[in-house]
Amino acid sequence: MSTSFHNNIEDIFAEACELHSRLNFATAEKIYLELLEKNPGGGLIHYNIGLLYYQTEQFNKAIAHYMKAKKLAPADPDLLFNLALCQKQLGRLHDAAAGFEELIQISPKELDALYNLGNCYRELREYAKAEQAYLRLLLENPDHLSANRNLAYLYHLQKDFDSALKYYNKVLALEEGDPQAVHMVAAITDSGAASAPAEYIRDIFNRYSETFDEVLPGNLKYVVPEKLRSRLDSLGYPLSLFPKCIDLGCGTGLAGSQFGPVCNHLTGVDLSEKMIEKASAKGIYDILQVSEITSFLETKSDEYDLAVAADVLTYMGDLAPLFRALTEAMGEQALFCCSTEDSDQPAFSLCPNGRFTHSPAYVLKTAARFGWQCIDQTGSRLREEESNPVTGTLYFFTKKED
Ligand SMILES: C[S@@+](CC[C@H](N)C(=O)[O-])C[C@H]1O[C@@H](n2cnc3c(N)ncnc32)[C@H](O)[C@@H]1O
Repeated sequence: MSTSFHNNIEDIFAEACELHSRLNFATAEKIYLELLEKNPGGGLIHYNIGLLYYQTEQFNKAIAHYMKAKKLAPADPDLLFNLALCQKQLGRLHDAAAGFEELIQISPKELDALYNLGNCYRELREYAKAEQAYLRLLLENPDHLSANRNLAYLYHLQKDFDSALKYYNKVLALEEGDPQAVHMVAAITDSGAASAPAEYIRDIFNRYSETFDEVLPGNLKYVVPEKLRSRLDSLGYPLSLFPKCIDLGCGTGLAGSQFGPVCNHLTGVDLSEKMIEKASAKGIYDILQVSEITSFLETKSDEYDLAVAADVLTYMGDLAPLFRALTEAMGEQALFCCSTEDSDQPAFSLCPNGRFTHSPAYVLKTAARFGWQCIDQTGSRLREEESNPVTGTLYFFTKKED
């Protein structure tokens, strides 16, 4: 091949790289593909178009090109990393873990690879291997916040509470007042926390908002909104009965979508502004408010006919403040429905996953203290956690007649 042909290819490749770096994906892709027609063995071209497909979330195509590049440069650390990352994106966790392992063989101190390897094994529930990966990373960089956080949670999941505490405390040393670590330390030390800190709730759900609608009903088989709505229908209420409804902890609006059609007005309240943004985009609420629900209800009197709290009481231990506030905020004929996860303790417990569970006896007793009687109580499968069913109870309350 002549020198001018090579120069020409190099110039065109440089042009494609330039377009690619300016995120002009369509034109860069076209040029890379044309170059590959002329030079199918161009490892760097395969690598670059792999990156482009990764950036544009075409993971299968990215993998195909990375594999071709790998045949030409089997020990390139960047290539191995990006290939494994792509496999992880596609949920091919075994392949991804094998890829990160391969990279670590070549570059044992590749911290991002160790971190991702730990995450792959954690998702695969190969906890001993996940622990090894995080520990190797922390040997190199003891202050790696996410590795400390994930390791703490890993020990917590396995009920190794002393080790979990050690790493949560390390997180707190690195990030003073970190809401998740504070809450988890409370969960382990059974400090009698009465509810999850608002900061913690806001933080998890702000981060969760993008994927919530996909992950909850999909991966976690979350069915509480549908089940509450279906119980409501079976109670035989004339559905036009609800002029004003409030969705407490409305999140992205999964419960609102179920209850919107049976009320004339729907207010949604949530601590997480990002969840509220998602709910707002659905156009099902008349009013949306970023607020803590009990303090929001405390500003209302005789206002609502129906209140729904789907998978929200799991963030409160002591339910007395909520029922007290509901008594004032709800009308005389009002209905309140909610779900709880069941506890075998007498009242409520804070679990290692940071969620509260409640015994049905405690829920009924607390409701009754504030003038609420249960008209329907159903044991139910609510969702899954780590592929295991989570069971709980669905309740419908009305105000007791004097
Ligand atoms: C698991 S999500 C459920 C969302 C929605 N109810 C559904 O069924 O999809 C829990 C929601 O409750 C909100 N939340 C929890 N405790 C809250 C509180 N005390 N005040 C306001 N929002 C709260 C969280 O921010 C989150 O959006």
